[in-house]
Amino acid sequence: MPVSIRPLHPVFVGEVAGIDCRSPLNPAEVTAIESGMDQYAVLVFRDQDLADEEQIAFTRHFGELEGYSTPGHIRRRAEQRLGPGIADFSNLDKDGRIMSAEDRVWFFKLGDRLWHSDSSFRPVPAKYSLLSGRVIPSWGANTEFADMRAAYDALDERAKAEIEDLVCEHSLIYSRAAIGFTDLTPGEIAAFRPVHQPLVRTHPVTGRRSLFLAAHAGAILGWTIPEARMFLRDLTEHATRPEFVYSHTWQPYDLVMWDNRQTMHRARRFDRNEVRDVRRTTLGGNAPLIEQRM
Ligand SMILES: [Fe+2]
Repeated sequence: MPVSIRPLHPVFVGEVAGIDCRSPLNPAEVTAIESGMDQYAVLVFRDQDLADEEQIAFTRHFGELEGYSTPGHIRRRAEQRLGPGIADFSNLDKDGRIMSAEDRVWFFKLGDRLWHSDSSFRPVPAKYSLLSGRVIPSWGANTEFADMRAAYDALDERAKAEIEDLVCEHSLIYSRAAIGFTDLTPGEIAAFRPVHQPLVRTHPVTGRRSLFLAAHAGAILGWTIPEARMFLRDLTEHATRPEFVYSHTWQPYDLVMWDNRQTMHRARRFDRNEVRDVRRTTLGGNAPLIEQRM
């Protein structure tokens, strides 16, 4: 069965048919999915009952897994439920129990409910993320996506000119402070040192421009903090207007793949007494977008 993609939203997001993510892909299939990603920025694959190793193998068709020396989370390896190469976005502790509402890891996860782009707080931000839904709560827990190309296109010419060369500082410190979680250790504060990212980026294949926004952005170089925060808040409000947003209602074994270079996303509420087991693999970007003058 050839690969086909059906649009799920007027401006982005497609649903893929004709792919079994557990089997190795041939070059034509890889090309079809990559060009689908370039066009749709988010692709949904239904009924993909993947083991972790199969998810990792599928992900590697599209590049190198993200690897880094600094932590993107506060859980140490020994405290983790899953093996290397796959990130645990569940509400479970390493023994498979629902984590305490007072767990620092839980506080940290709550920050993912703010609009963001994965790893924008790293010098080399992520390319694709792939989230596999294994156990889905009975209520809520959607993942929402916003098209940052459409958001950029909808800006007026004055706004486009104003943001053209702006550089933002991104850090987990900013996104966690935004929900009042400031209880970071000195080691975490050092590891989460802000990085520089351009506010406007250009897709390497399509040449389309997009807003590179995230809750991790907390400063604009050369601007006062209040002015920068207010401007970033306004831009985020613009970029997440309903016409640019797709809300994904999860079914078990959905695999959703998104391009962090062209979209933002956020998690939505669910009953924390129910299990939500979702697992993410992530592809790294190629290089820093701009020189890190720190
Ligand atoms: Fe995320």
